[in-house]
Amino acid sequence: MATGNISDASLKYFEEKKIKSLLEEAMHDLLLDLPQDPLTYLLERFDTPTSLRLIVSGPPGSGKGTQCDLLARAFGLKHISVGDILRQAATEETERGKKIALFVTKGTLVPDDLFVNIVIEKLREAEQSHKGWLLDGFPRTRAQAIYLQKAGISPQRFFYIDVSDEISSKRLLSRRGDATADKTNRGGSDRVPAERKVSVRMDDTPDVIGTRLKYFAARKNELVECYAPFYVHIDGSLDVESVFEEIKIQVTSLDVFVQGHHE
Ligand code: AP5
Repeated sequence: MATGNISDASLKYFEEKKIKSLLEEAMHDLLLDLPQDPLTYLLERFDTPTSLRLIVSGPPGSGKGTQCDLLARAFGLKHISVGDILRQAATEETERGKKIALFVTKGTLVPDDLFVNIVIEKLREAEQSHKGWLLDGFPRTRAQAIYLQKAGISPQRFFYIDVSDEISSKRLLSRRGDATADKTNRGGSDRVPAERKVSVRMDDTPDVIGTRLKYFAARKNELVECYAPFYVHIDGSLDVESVFEEIKIQVTSLDVFVQGHHE
């Protein structure tokens, strides 16, 4: 059955050859750069390799870090975990380090001026050093999304790993239990790095988990709204492998596009 004036065969061709992604990417860059000579710009643009740019979002304990570790290895991407960056910064004996620690231990959001520039710098570096990046735990607010937008950084996909608060809490408390007991993994996959399965995180306590979930929920809708064109819902309640497979299908289709583009 034809859709409007476009035949099924044309639609199939569009899908198979990833024409939509190709044009979207080019349009995105064109609107960002507003070149004097759009035609020459587009010709050059089509001849330049494209990096993969993926945001992985979801509530605490949804498996963002676990999935990013797996994806980074599978696709040669740089995993930029904002939580890891902030936890590292919180151990530094500096004014900034001490300030960041105050927020991270409480499970509230660290003020943007203490770290956003570093995230942007890391994203730029990753575009040069890797096949692309995976941004884990950022942005968490509309303001942070605007920082990225102003820096000319936008993703090709925004993966939202969805789990209930019950599952989140159970996993995070179990991670804490595992770390303080016998370091037995209950994460469900041998492919998950050991440090992701067990950790004594200062914010994995019942009270702080509650605060983290509350802060995430308060901003979830504005975040999803900002990235509506790139939004992909992922069922995070499944086991690690199944979630990975679900995301991998999406990334593979983009990866083929990026690879094929500069072959
Ligand atoms: P952050 O480190 O980002 O923590 P989070 O969002 O609370 O999430 P987690 O890292 O705990 O969970 P995850 O979704 O990565 O799941 P994971 O793979 O680890 O942020 C920490 C703090 O930093 C924030 O509270 C805030 O203070 C600050 N911060 C961070 N970003 C900020 C920002 N943008 N702005 C301001 N402040 C910011 O898995 C969890 C456990 O579940 C593991 O044990 C794992 O093995 C297990 N697991 C994972 N997947 C599965 C599965 N499918 N089935 C069963 N178990 C699973």
